Amino acid sequence: MTDIKLISNPFRDDKYTARLSSDDCIKFHKSLPDYSSSPLVDLYELSENLNLKSLQIKDESKRFNLNAFKSLGASYAMAKIIVSQVGNDQLDLDFNSIMQHKNATKEMTFATATDGNHGRAVAWSAEIFGCKAIVYLPEGTSRHRISAIESHGANAVVTELNYDETVEYAARMADENNWILIQDTSWKDYEDIPRDIMIGYQTMIHELSSDHFIWPTHVFMQAGVGSFAASIFDAFCNIDRPRPKFILVEPHGAACYFESIQVGDGKPHTVKKLDTLMAGLCCGTPSIIAWDIIKQTADYFVICDDGIALDAMKQMAEKKSDDQSIVSGESGAVTTGIIEKICSNPKYSNYLDVLGLDDSSSIFCISTEGDTNPDLYNQALGRQ
Ligand SMILES: Cc1ncc(COP(=O)(O)O)c(C=O)c1O
Repeated sequence: MTDIKLISNPFRDDKYTARLSSDDCIKFHKSLPDYSSSPLVDLYELSENLNLKSLQIKDESKRFNLNAFKSLGASYAMAKIIVSQVGNDQLDLDFNSIMQHKNATKEMTFATATDGNHGRAVAWSAEIFGCKAIVYLPEGTSRHRISAIESHGANAVVTELNYDETVEYAARMADENNWILIQDTSWKDYEDIPRDIMIGYQTMIHELSSDHFIWPTHVFMQAGVGSFAASIFDAFCNIDRPRPKFILVEPHGAACYFESIQVGDGKPHTVKKLDTLMAGLCCGTPSIIAWDIIKQTADYFVICDDGIALDAMKQMAEKKSDDQSIVSGESGAVTTGIIEKICSNPKYSNYLDVLGLDDSSSIFCISTEGDTNPDLYNQALGRQ
């Protein structure tokens, strides 16, 4: 088995215009307690060693002390639901305004399914707004992810199902119990809430305007159901600058985008057997909103083995140069791992040509999580 595979996207549409963008997401996030922009890290030495102009990584391990970017989506979507349910057209999408309606929020129960990070984000959002949350998890979820969710007062229920089945189960339970389903993936007739979650993620791109951000030639984003990568690609398309090349990265063992593109009928397909250590990316079915955006915007689809993420976790943690170290979990580190391998291993020199990577290239990635699974993190770093 090759450890990296790359295909180009026959469905890409040069004329794609951004469809998610909304400026109120960053304004809303700034109103939340303890908001601060996540750091943008410039890996000077690594980029020099890899013969690149720059390699910039946004470090989401610092987001609201929650160790992952997901709170941006859940909090924004939950706030929009609360505002619409309180039924007050005058109510601002703003933390203090929502907190005037505690009597209403305490009656609301939100349900979701999660690999861990989205569930923690829903639990935290429910906690700050004074709502209840019930979070369903697939079998085999790490104990740290479960206790992280419970630490926000949510009810965490581990199922005997895989991720895709857990999503269906949570939807059914929400329906039967009159809870509000807040899911980070979309399907036919369930699109408004996942779209708001994707808009919430775009705060990460809005924040770059106040950083010393080098406009990228290449943007590498990792995908589970694709909501995250689609929101980032869409946000870049909304800025009037030369469009970077967009590269979608997935694990071999959960590559629903790569496999769907290979089928070639332009439709999303489900991968039934899921097998990867990258828990956040371990999803078998593309979100339909994300599929439409990624199909039109991505230039290339790349898959790789878990080993590439594990190597990158170690490399990003170890400070061997003046570059800043980054605590990056398995789903966060994979894009940096791919770049490092493609740029340094002669075996992949043809990928350098295909992607057009050279000393004039500026790459942007997001390390989407910190050590959300400390056991695996310590193992990757050789600490146990
Ligand atoms: C850390 C991390 N990175 C990336 C992703 C991928 O996001 P999406 O499922 O929207 O593709 C997830 C999803 O849970 C995640 O937890």
